[in-house]
Amino acid sequence: MSRFVFPAKCLRILMCVLQVLLPAAGLLQLQDVKKTCCEFLESQLHPVNCLGIRAFADMHACTDLLNKANTYAEQHFADVVLSEEFLNLGIEQVCSLISSDKLTISSEEKVFEAVIAWVNHDKDVRQEFMARLMEHVRLPLLPREYLVQRVEEEALVKNSSACKDYLIEAMKYHLLPTEQRILMKSVRTRLRTPMNLPKLMVVVGGQAPKAIRSVECYDFKEERWHQVAELPSRRCRAGMVYMAGLVFAVGGFNGSLRVRTVDSYDPVKDQWTSVANMRDRRSTLGAAVLNGLLYAVGGFDGSTGLSSVEAYNIKSNEWFHVAPMNTRRSSVGVGVVGGLLYAVGGYDGASRQCLSTVECYNATTNEWTYIAEMSTRRSGAGVGVLNNLLYAVGGHDGPLVRKSVEVYDPTTNAWRQVADMNMCRRNAGVCAVNGLLYVVGGDDGSCNLASVEYYNPTTDKWTVVSSCMSTGRSYAGVTVIDKPL
Ligand SMILES: *[C@@H]1O[C@H](CO)[C@@H](O)[C@H](O)[C@H]1NC(C)=O
Ligand SMILES: *[C@@H]1O[C@H](CO)[C@@H](O)[C@H](O)[C@H]1NC(C)=O
Ligand SMILES: *[C@@H]1O[C@H](CO)[C@@H](O)[C@H](O)[C@H]1NC(C)=O
Repeated sequence: MSRFVFPAKCLRILMCVLQVLLPAAGLLQLQDVKKTCCEFLESQLHPVNCLGIRAFADMHACTDLLNKANTYAEQHFADVVLSEEFLNLGIEQVCSLISSDKLTISSEEKVFEAVIAWVNHDKDVRQEFMARLMEHVRLPLLPREYLVQRVEEEALVKNSSACKDYLIEAMKYHLLPTEQRILMKSVRTRLRTPMNLPKLMVVVGGQAPKAIRSVECYDFKEERWHQVAELPSRRCRAGMVYMAGLVFAVGGFNGSLRVRTVDSYDPVKDQWTSVANMRDRRSTLGAAVLNGLLYAVGGFDGSTGLSSVEAYNIKSNEWFHVAPMNTRRSSVGVGVVGGLLYAVGGYDGASRQCLSTVECYNATTNEWTYIAEMSTRRSGAGVGVLNNLLYAVGGHDGPLVRKSVEVYDPTTNAWRQVADMNMCRRNAGVCAVNGLLYVVGGDDGSCNLASVEYYNPTTDKWTVVSSCMSTGRSYAGVTVIDKPL
C-alpha cells in the first residue's frame, strides 16, 4: 500500500535537473515531458518536500502542480512546519502560508509555534518580522491559559509593542460575553475552515460476550474495517473521548473488576499507554471533553451507582473531583452542546429505576441543573451531538430495549422524537461525523450486534452500513479521529 517516496535530497537534485530540462521542453513544445515531470513530482508530495515542489511549480507555471502542492502544504501544516524547507522560507512565503483559511490544524497553537520556530531559526535577522507574522496568527482562538502561560511569556512577543496589541485584542475577545464576540470583526477572530480531513471511527474493547481487548477502525472513505493495536488489558463499559490527538479509554470493567485505570491511544504511533488513574472506580460512565478537560461522569463502582464526577487535566496528568450530579446515574450517556455538559438518563440504583431525567453541568458555576426530561426512560442510551442538538438513541427500560430516538434542542429546552433505528439497541456507541450520527453495535436484548447504522437529520432516516464489525459487541467505546497520514 505504501508508495515509494524519493529521499528529499535525491528529489532536490532531480528538481535541479528538471530546472534545466523544463524550459527546453517548453521551447521545443515537448508538453508531454513537462506533464510527466509534474505528475511525477505530484506523486512525491510529502511534508518534507511540498514547499520546494510548490516553489518549483510556481517558477515553471505548472498551475495544477502548484495548486496540489499548496493544498498539500495546508492540509499537512503541522508536519510541514517541522521541515527544513519551512524554516528556510522567506517572510512573504511564510505570511502567505499562515494567512490561509484552509490550514488544517488541531489548534491555532500550531501556527503560533511555527512562527516562533521560524523566527528563532535566524533570530537576529527575523525578529523584526514578528509583527508582520503575528498579524496572521489568530490569537483570539487560543485558550486563555495558553495566551497567559505561553504567548505572553514569549520574549519575541514581549519585545514588540505591535505583538502586544494583538495579545490585548485576544484578551479582550475572551473577556467579552459570547454574544458580543461576534461583533469583533477581525481576520484573527475568524475560524479556519479546512477541507474535511479523512476520518476514522475507532471502536475500543467492549463485551463479546466477555470484556475484550480488540480495537477496530472504520474508514468512512474506503467503507471498510481494519484492526489496530489492542488495548493493554480487557476493557468494556469504559468512557471514550478523542482529545489532543489521542483516544482516551476511561475506567470500565476488565472482566472481574470496575477499574480506575485510563489508557490513551496514539493513532500515529498505533500504540497504547497508561495515564493517571481516576480517583474513583467506574464502569458504564459517561465521558466527554469540555473546555479542554476530560470529564468522567457517574457510572457504577461495583456496588452502587455514582453521582460523582471528576475531570482530567492532560497537561498536569491529574484527576480532580468537581460537583456531583443531583442523581446517581450508572449506564449514563453524556454530550457537550454550547459549552455545557449533559448527562442523559441512566439507572438510579437507589430507586431501582431507569431514568428519564437529564441534567446539565456549567463548568463556570460548577453546578448541575435539571433540564427537560426525555419522553421515555432510557438506561444505556447512546448519546451524541450533531448540529448543536443532543441525541438519545435507544437504551432500555427494564427488559424493554428501545429502537426509538429523541433529540434535545438547548435553545428551546425541549425533546422531540425522530425516526426509529432499524434495530433495538442498548449500550451501543454513538458518534457524529460529516453531518451524520452513527450508532455502533450494542445489544438488542439477546445478542451483541456487529452492525452499524447512521442517522441523516436532513432526511430523518436511519441507514444500515453495509460493512459490519468483525465482532458483535456491546459496551464498546466509540469515537471519531483524524485519519493518521
Ligand atoms: C528586541 O528587539 C530589538 C530590535 O527589534 C533587538 O535589537 C533586541 O535585541 C530585542 N531584545 C530581545 C530581548 O530580544
Ligand atoms: C482486573 O483489574 C484488577 C485490578 O487492576 C487486576 O488485579 C485483575 O487481574 C484484572 N482482571 C483481568 C481479567 O484483567
Ligand atoms: C454558566 O453560568 C454562568 C453564570 O450563570 C453564565 O454566565 C454562563 O453563560 C454559563 N455558561 C454557559 C456555557 O451557558
